[in-house]
Amino acid sequence: MRKGLLLTTASVALVSSLTACGGSSSSDTDSGSGSDAKPKIGVILPDSKSSARWETADRKYLSEAFKTAGVEYDIQNAQGDKQEFQTIADQMITSGVNVLVIVNLDSGTGKAVLDKAKAQGVATIDYDRLTLGGSAQYYVSFDNTAVGKLQGEGLSKCLTDMKAKKPIVATLNGSPTDNNATLFAEGYNGVLDPKYKSGEYVKGPDQSVPDWDNAQAGTIFEQMLTSERQIGGVLAANDGLGNAAIAVLRKQNRNGEVPVTGQDATVQGLQNILAGDQCMTVYKAVKKEADATAKLAISLAKGEKGETNATVEDPEGKRKVPSVLETPVAIYKDNVKDVVDDGFVTKAELCTGKYAALCTEAGIK
Ligand code: BGC
Repeated sequence: MRKGLLLTTASVALVSSLTACGGSSSSDTDSGSGSDAKPKIGVILPDSKSSARWETADRKYLSEAFKTAGVEYDIQNAQGDKQEFQTIADQMITSGVNVLVIVNLDSGTGKAVLDKAKAQGVATIDYDRLTLGGSAQYYVSFDNTAVGKLQGEGLSKCLTDMKAKKPIVATLNGSPTDNNATLFAEGYNGVLDPKYKSGEYVKGPDQSVPDWDNAQAGTIFEQMLTSERQIGGVLAANDGLGNAAIAVLRKQNRNGEVPVTGQDATVQGLQNILAGDQCMTVYKAVKKEADATAKLAISLAKGEKGETNATVEDPEGKRKVPSVLETPVAIYKDNVKDVVDDGFVTKAELCTGKYAALCTEAGIK
């Protein structure tokens, strides 16, 4: 009823300007003419331990985007359990979602979920991680090779700043079942391999961390340090893995002497940077990723084509996936404040206890 009243162009324009929620809102209101059913979108997040981002950033920004767009949504977290992932997907499909958005735990189980959704007429989006051989209609993420490149360049900048001579570089890669980990490695190895070849750096131990498990990363790094005592730099694929290495270095009083990289601009990672124990992190503005996903999901729910800015090749499925890719940013001590200014972390959570003084030094107001 209310919808019927709003269906003139003028009032649609008025609604969108009043709610100030951007370009997509006017067409949302338009689509109300056909059916009264609101689109319903289901999102499955992977876990809450491999990175703080999934619960603190992705859940928050996705909920906000869906709320702003006025669609129904259900966001659940599989907590690293592949069985649970499938169960959540089945429940969401049964509950009548129009669009299913997933962050897969591995391509095999992700593909099973995507194929099932497709068979039931549910549209699908791969969020952040591409499901190899999968059937998602769209992929929304960051340029993940660029993320890795920033990490490789970041480590080499910090090694130069420290005037390191022929440092032995250890590598802690992400999960071997995460296509992103492959892309990050392509990015940083593209920077570091030539330096190993030229003899500027020495290639040290290089290992993948199953499921991005932070505790395992600590054990792996401890073994690396035992076998190679002179490690002079650590390429860690995210803040959690980086923090695991830093914790081991702290026990040996070597924190701050060995630059360590990261990713995700987590509170812990940023604090490690302020303290001088971590060299850099990569900030991915998850709000942009979430907003793009909400926009695409709504287009799909309405049977429309969504806007994309890239095409990503799925090497396993040998298909081109229409994608939205956002741009990552490198964060060092001198621009930690940008992450706070962007609202990704608050001063209150970052500048606690001993970090208060470090925050002031770093110009965080
Ligand atoms: C994401 C990273 C995250 C990692 C562990 C990757 O797929 O792109 O942001 O740190 O998974 O959850």
